[in-house]
Amino acid sequence: SQGSSVAPFDFLVLGSGIAGLSYALKVAEYGRVAVVTKAGASEGCTTYAQGGICAVLDAADSVEAHVHDTMVAGAWLNDRNAVEVVCREGPRYVLELAKFGAEFTRGAGGGLHLTREGGHSARRIVHAADATGAEIERALVTTAAAHPNITFFEHHLAVDLLIDEVEGVRYCVGADVLDQQEMQMTRFVAPVTMLATGGAGQVYPNTTNPGVTTGDGIAMAYRAKAAVANMEFVQFHPTSLYAPATPAVAGGNAAAARLGGGRSFLITEAVRGEGGMLFNLGGERFMPRYDERLELAPRDIVARSIQAEMRGRGDSHVLLDISHKPAAEVLAHFPNVAAHCASLGVDITQDPIPVVPAQHYLCGGVQTGLLGETRVQGLYACGEVACSGLHGANRLASNSLLEGLVFANRAVGPSVAHAEHALRCAGGALRAAAASADFSGPRAPRPLSPSATAWVAAKRGQLQGLMWSAAGIVRRQADMKAALREIAELYVETRALAQTYGVNTELVELRNLVTVGELIMSSALQRRESRGGHFCIEHPEAVPQAAVPTVISTPAKKRLG
Ligand code: FAD
Ligand code: SIN
Repeated sequence: SQGSSVAPFDFLVLGSGIAGLSYALKVAEYGRVAVVTKAGASEGCTTYAQGGICAVLDAADSVEAHVHDTMVAGAWLNDRNAVEVVCREGPRYVLELAKFGAEFTRGAGGGLHLTREGGHSARRIVHAADATGAEIERALVTTAAAHPNITFFEHHLAVDLLIDEVEGVRYCVGADVLDQQEMQMTRFVAPVTMLATGGAGQVYPNTTNPGVTTGDGIAMAYRAKAAVANMEFVQFHPTSLYAPATPAVAGGNAAAARLGGGRSFLITEAVRGEGGMLFNLGGERFMPRYDERLELAPRDIVARSIQAEMRGRGDSHVLLDISHKPAAEVLAHFPNVAAHCASLGVDITQDPIPVVPAQHYLCGGVQTGLLGETRVQGLYACGEVACSGLHGANRLASNSLLEGLVFANRAVGPSVAHAEHALRCAGGALRAAAASADFSGPRAPRPLSPSATAWVAAKRGQLQGLMWSAAGIVRRQADMKAALREIAELYVETRALAQTYGVNTELVELRNLVTVGELIMSSALQRRESRGGHFCIEHPEAVPQAAVPTVISTPAKKRLG
């Protein structure tokens, strides 16, 4: 049957960013770990993270202050228990990253240098210049690759989770995976699966996220009937580099939608943290008109303010200026931003940087408890794929790397216990899953034909355009309703093709993107208020009774009717 095979492991980890690798390194002490990852091991948001990772390490700072700042940014929709756990346990694991070899920037006295970002009342961002994620990922990949119990499967795409149902209880017993280079399917069978597949930036045409972010984990978990929460809370970063090819953000130009895979270059929030100011093209510093916290107001406020300036003036972008700071300081803190801008003719020590907002982060995802557990037994989730309750309605800068790190560690104890129990008592389910591996017919790998390739690209562009115009920075009920109807059609068409065609990356990703788009749009429609990353023009205020998560766990076809 098309070269299919079965791979038994003790722990299956899907994704190799900070979340997946932090978990893999810990459970590798207890058993054999497969790290399945759909591109090269380092490809994912973690590698592109710039600003840093939060940790309360300064004597003048406190866990309470970090909790408070996180709740303010999250517009009080956060799960306070999750916030307290992350703020309290975070510093220990950030320091552990240094033990794994991550070299962070140090201050004059040799201690870790702490920078500042929007929404933080203290300096608490540990960083490696302006390329923090790349340094963390380098250290984690190197350490994991050297571990005898960890095997990497690069360019392997997880297609669907394997679910076994016993007396109404659902168990995850592994995943079916496409080797994209050999075009072969393998069934990975394991008593524990950790979903660490990251976010879904590619559902928007304009995103800071790399091409792998197609929401696969969220869609797979949703198909497996795990609960998905807070999908309407999409974070738009205020400052991605404006390049003429960037779609017209203010106009939400669907025709300009990029057909996937691309990403906008981020200008880290730390530029504003270190004194960078925003100007409109008329030369006015406009943030004082919007918020007393100026350029360091929470991201949703800064992004909306920029969008309002651009729309009001009919401008394509705004300007971010740090040229008043000493050039040596700017170059020392922001070497990568400076080099990238210089390659496009912008000297950030002299010139303002042209910027626009772009999709940056998905606050929602697979709903998890304080130990990374989902509603499906044996299935855990951590990192951007998860909705742990930490971020609420919007994420505080530099809390994301931290979230992945803390919940990866918290999931170790319970998942090791689950694996031991399952291997002792329920080994039959694992053997049955292995025995039933069948990759024939529509479940066999099959590359897309040229006409199907064109169809998939067109549908992906259509979806991205709908998402940008109806579920972007500012939303309208009527637009969302119309968009949801179109997405429902896309959903039916794509699912039909995916169920009959055969397995390939493009179609799997489109199906997942459409599912995630549908989840975002329907969650946004349900929320009759504005809060954090969800701003709806007809309901511009927060409604106190609405400060509860949006949870979806019913299959879409039932909801769409
Ligand atoms: P990722 O690092 O995105 O890793 C996901 C992994 O899953 C990848 O290996 C991917 O290939 C794999 N994968 C996906 N789907 C599949 C599949 N179907 N099968 C197999 N593998 C799959 N956060 C901060 O806290 N501080 C920052 O300074 C910061 N800066 C950022 C800058 C940029 C430009 C971006 C894009 C994000 C930034 N963020 C920052 C957010 C943060 O980087 C991410 O939220 C975080 O790295 C997510 O980590 P993760 O391990 O969950 O996912
Ligand atoms: C940035 O460097 O601005 C990104 C920080 C974050 O997303 O947390």
